[in-house]
Amino acid sequence: MGRVSAGVALSGALLETACSHLSTSMAVPFHPLPTTTEDNFITADGFTADVLIRWRDPLNTKDKFGTNNDFLCFIPLNTDGTNALLWVNHEYMHPVLIHNRKMNSPRTKAEMSLEQLEIGGSLVEIIKRNGKWSYVPNSKYNRRITAQTKIPFQKNTRIMNATSAYGMVTNCSGGYTPWKTILTCEENYDIYYGNSTYINKKRQFVPQKKMNWYEHFNHPPEHYGWVVEVEPFTGHATKLITLGRFEHESATVTTGKSGKVVVYMGEDRRGGGIFKFVSDSGKNLDKGTLYVANTDKGQWIALDYATNPILKKHFNSQLEVLIYASYAAELVGGTAQDRPEDVEIDPITGAIVVALTNNIDQGNLYGSLLKIEEDSGDHESLTFKASTLMSGGMESGFACPDNMVFDGKGNLWMTSDMAEYDMRDGKYPGFGNNSLFYIPLKGPYAGGIYRVASAPCDAEFTGPTFSSDSKTLFLSVQHPGALTKDPSAPTSTWPDGPGQLPKSSVVAIQGPQLEKLTL
Ligand code: FEO
Ligand code: CA
Ligand code: CA
Ligand code: CA
Repeated sequence: MGRVSAGVALSGALLETACSHLSTSMAVPFHPLPTTTEDNFITADGFTADVLIRWRDPLNTKDKFGTNNDFLCFIPLNTDGTNALLWVNHEYMHPVLIHNRKMNSPRTKAEMSLEQLEIGGSLVEIIKRNGKWSYVPNSKYNRRITAQTKIPFQKNTRIMNATSAYGMVTNCSGGYTPWKTILTCEENYDIYYGNSTYINKKRQFVPQKKMNWYEHFNHPPEHYGWVVEVEPFTGHATKLITLGRFEHESATVTTGKSGKVVVYMGEDRRGGGIFKFVSDSGKNLDKGTLYVANTDKGQWIALDYATNPILKKHFNSQLEVLIYASYAAELVGGTAQDRPEDVEIDPITGAIVVALTNNIDQGNLYGSLLKIEEDSGDHESLTFKASTLMSGGMESGFACPDNMVFDGKGNLWMTSDMAEYDMRDGKYPGFGNNSLFYIPLKGPYAGGIYRVASAPCDAEFTGPTFSSDSKTLFLSVQHPGALTKDPSAPTSTWPDGPGQLPKSSVVAIQGPQLEKLTL
């Protein structure tokens, strides 16, 4: 086993449990990691892991790397992919680790203003020298987009009396377009700016007690919950109205048979929907149709004001349908799902895989992976077959699937996200810390689920993405030490060790075993 920083060796007893429930096959592609609750980043033998960049590392003389990194997008800057631009989402921040303030506690406007600089996204140049990756401080490409950056709405659309938003928030997962822009998804925006309902054409603000920025910053929740498109070389950002407003987890981009661009999206809330947007063109996302999935009937239902009498009854315009797309999806018969997280497309079969992470209210603790196969294998199709690809639980050895990436051979790499408070409360005994799994879907090891890496305490792994040569898997380590109540006694000290605050970081996984699996 390998560690990012020094740690104690796992006991022999623990090692013996290595394969007990992760794979039913005696033959294994590598010796998988056993479960562990150690506060460290640990990999199975044959993999190495190095921290690439940490929270508050300087990007340049004015900007610092944000916290709680999630989605990663690797954009090569040279032909062999040893020099690249890395986009990194910064999903949320924890006031305890920022300035020893509790969530929900009264904070000054100046304190909240500081918090706003910790989230959003980072662009950072990275380079591989002598086999190891490092980031390039002061690169001309390095920049931040934060919760304070002014971001226009697509086509200067007016929303709640403004044509731009103050910042972007809770950037979770995302995607990359054929025209080389980044899509970054605003997810749990309500923790900062509350939410609103729109029932019988009456809007009502609904405060949410968590980060409470609305106490000092008067921005409507309708300005958040969008997919934001970012041009990586200028940092120009736009909030995309056409893709609808809801708790956007992910935006996975592909192309249909006629050449139209298609974006698959999960809405991560209990009862949230699976959406897809089919662009009218192959060149931008400015016009097209937003659909929600009815997975019982195998149908994509258009959220189209012009043709749907239910939408006409409840809204005054297509713009209102898109602003309140979550509600509109329920009205037209979108199937309520168990918290759709990441969406990925099998590069060999074209099947769409959706991580349904859990639905604890409904007694679903472990989640599952849903497979969607579009009719005629066409992503523009309006009908499909849905089936469960695999379920979480003790037998499969994982719980709460979240982020995923396929390698070029069609193997799935998946991370788990058992919430830190649920792990503390004993909901997941025997699962260890959150982990990264290798899941071959074809070949001699198909059906096996193999643990590759284990996360530090309270953390989840997010944003898995491969370098262009598939020799490196970049991975975010998000919210280590998230249960910390007192910064002088954090519940994790990863990656810098005892006496240090925990720091969300990006890690580069390499090694002979990774290359054996991906090349
Ligand atoms: Fe930000 Fe649904 O995870
Ligand atoms: Ca997620
Ligand atoms: Ca993904
Ligand atoms: Ca999650």
